[in-house]
Amino acid sequence: NSVALTKMRRLNHTTILSTFAAMNTPKRYLITAALPYANGLKHIGHLAGAYLPADIYVRYLKAQKRDVVFVCGSDEHGTAIPIQATKEGTTAQAIIDKYHPIIEQNFKDLGIEFDIYHRTSDPLHHETASAFFKDLEAKGDLETKTSEQYFDEATSTFLADRYIKGTCPNCSHPEAYGDQCEKCGKSLSPEELINPVSTLSGQAPIKKETTHWYLPLNKHEDFLRQWILNDHAKDWRAAVVGQCKSWIDGGLLPRAVTRDLDWGVKVPLASGAGKVLYVWFDAPIGYISATKQWALNNGKDWTPYWNDKETKLVHFIGKDNIVFHCIIFPIMLKLHGNILPENVAANEFMNLEGDKMSTSKGWSIEMDDFINKWIKKDNGGNGLADSLRFYLTAIAPESKDSEFTWKGFQDSVNGELVSIFANFVNRTWVLMHKLCKGKVPAIHIEFLDDEDQAILISVKESKEKITELLEQYKFREAQFEVINLARLGNQYMQKKEPWILAKNMETDPTAQAKIDNTMHACLQLCANLAILINPFLPFTAKKMCYMMKVVDRMLEWENAGGFNLLKVGYSLRPPELLFRKIEDEEIEAELAQLKSNLNAKKTTMDNITPAASPSDAKDKGLKPEIVFDDFGKIDLRVGTIIDAKKVEKADKLLQLEVDLGTEKRTILSGIAMHFDPAAIVGKQVVVVANLAPRTMRGVESKGMILMAEDANGKLYFVQPSEAIAPGSTIS
Ligand code: MF3
Ligand code: ZN
Repeated sequence: NSVALTKMRRLNHTTILSTFAAMNTPKRYLITAALPYANGLKHIGHLAGAYLPADIYVRYLKAQKRDVVFVCGSDEHGTAIPIQATKEGTTAQAIIDKYHPIIEQNFKDLGIEFDIYHRTSDPLHHETASAFFKDLEAKGDLETKTSEQYFDEATSTFLADRYIKGTCPNCSHPEAYGDQCEKCGKSLSPEELINPVSTLSGQAPIKKETTHWYLPLNKHEDFLRQWILNDHAKDWRAAVVGQCKSWIDGGLLPRAVTRDLDWGVKVPLASGAGKVLYVWFDAPIGYISATKQWALNNGKDWTPYWNDKETKLVHFIGKDNIVFHCIIFPIMLKLHGNILPENVAANEFMNLEGDKMSTSKGWSIEMDDFINKWIKKDNGGNGLADSLRFYLTAIAPESKDSEFTWKGFQDSVNGELVSIFANFVNRTWVLMHKLCKGKVPAIHIEFLDDEDQAILISVKESKEKITELLEQYKFREAQFEVINLARLGNQYMQKKEPWILAKNMETDPTAQAKIDNTMHACLQLCANLAILINPFLPFTAKKMCYMMKVVDRMLEWENAGGFNLLKVGYSLRPPELLFRKIEDEEIEAELAQLKSNLNAKKTTMDNITPAASPSDAKDKGLKPEIVFDDFGKIDLRVGTIIDAKKVEKADKLLQLEVDLGTEKRTILSGIAMHFDPAAIVGKQVVVVANLAPRTMRGVESKGMILMAEDANGKLYFVQPSEAIAPGSTIS
């Protein structure tokens, strides 16, 4: 055993140099996540595609004490926003002012921690984007070209592609748009439409000459071939390089960077009156404006982040943004004299229950909904933010499209987070309190064995592996490794069986020493797990620090890999609940909700003419219309709650006894998180009395209680205005 000990000591004091650690560390990092359009809520597919992986990477870099700035913000221009405003009878400004703060808060609630969340409507951005354009124009890097474009005489506006409708030349769909037919999916140019009409006036547009500025992508083909297909062929994701290659091989053309529109950054030239910069020209410059604003807020200099070669710039995006971040923006950056991205970590798409996620079709899970329904309604709801983060990373679409299913969410949380990670931490804490007086026990060298040594080696190896995977943007595998380490912890504890040793205390004088060794190793392993899980599940890491009574600084990456994080004799807090189980009923409810969203959207879309249809029916999301007879089938009665108690092993359910006048009913209601059972006895309620009975947790529920819910998810009983006899009817 002294051999084991020597090895253990050596390991504790050796720094393992891996290949990347030996490489030069960049002087500073600038990390960007695609600026979301501020014209609607963002769904969890967006979250998984760009923001979550970027956040994991940034948290890891910050734990490494690197100099890093993480920028994001709202993309508030483009034709889609004024079109939406027209449809909704409001202004573009009102739309972005509504969504910008919601999206910003949603990210915060999910632990996505930007250093700045800026917006492209900000004057600083307008200045920055105009200056950028002017610089390129002055250097002769842009070309102008005059061509004929569709013009609506009735409203005297040039029509952006989206403002023109007509018959699809491919499938004859009569409502195809000037940029795409939504029926067959073919991308179109307005010229290809048969019988085009303006969506503004409904009239046939005429052709009129207009002049625009173009970025001649074709002149930069050699640069792109060298930079992407040669220099980055190996370190960028294959799908990214592949998409770039097919764009380049397909032949690059000059691309218009201005539009005839009045919403956006004005073209800063006399000859550009009435025109704005194309949204995809100004939006990525938003990363630069955001960096400037961050520097202003923090008394820093922004320039080296965009101009110094020792800065590592990494963009996190979804695959639909590849061409803009790998081809167009880099050309702009090169011409303007900025650094180029070191990597563009683009993800594929995440589908939902077998179909493409789409907010407009009602087939999606908005971040805002998840937060209101799961996180805010739950005590210790942070655990649920991390549960979502966990599942989204576990199925991250890094190399191919992936699929979110509610069942998958439940399995992943219950099967890995709860029964492996949280289970190990919880057992360690409970046993430490029971067998070691709530303190970090001493190590008894003479009783250390091979298993103790093996677990220490595993921690070191795991840290190396996780570090390497994170440096390669392989977040899915990296997170898997952390869970694996917790799994090893469980196996180690299972082998050591300190609870059995505890029973032999009287006969075995070495028992306590052996228990101490095991619990010491388990505690040190937990401390390591907190550091390693922190980039992925920051709320959990914080809770673990609280349990260990250590400050957040312990989470610095360099601290991982050793067994000297917690001092012998240090007393620790009782265990915290890290995650809770996801119940079958919750999953069923989500699936039912999804289906009804879909139907609701279908009905609104079928019934309302496109011009009047709210593109975001969320606020007005009424269920499909019913006739009076549908309503008449529901038997509503006044009841009085005469008894209430919690249902065992179901966090959300209360079992109520309700007096309905002629009979007493048992009714289960999912309100346990909101009401104390004792406090609701005697309350009058409205009961759906003829609902088919349903058995949950072995209890038959006969009926349902009506509840009202406000925008914050708070629940209220629906009651008669004064107390009346139980059994009274409602119609
Ligand atoms: N708003 C775009 C989208 O959601 C992304 C813009 S990324 C930026 O697809 F680089 F242009 F900012
Ligand atoms: Zn078509």
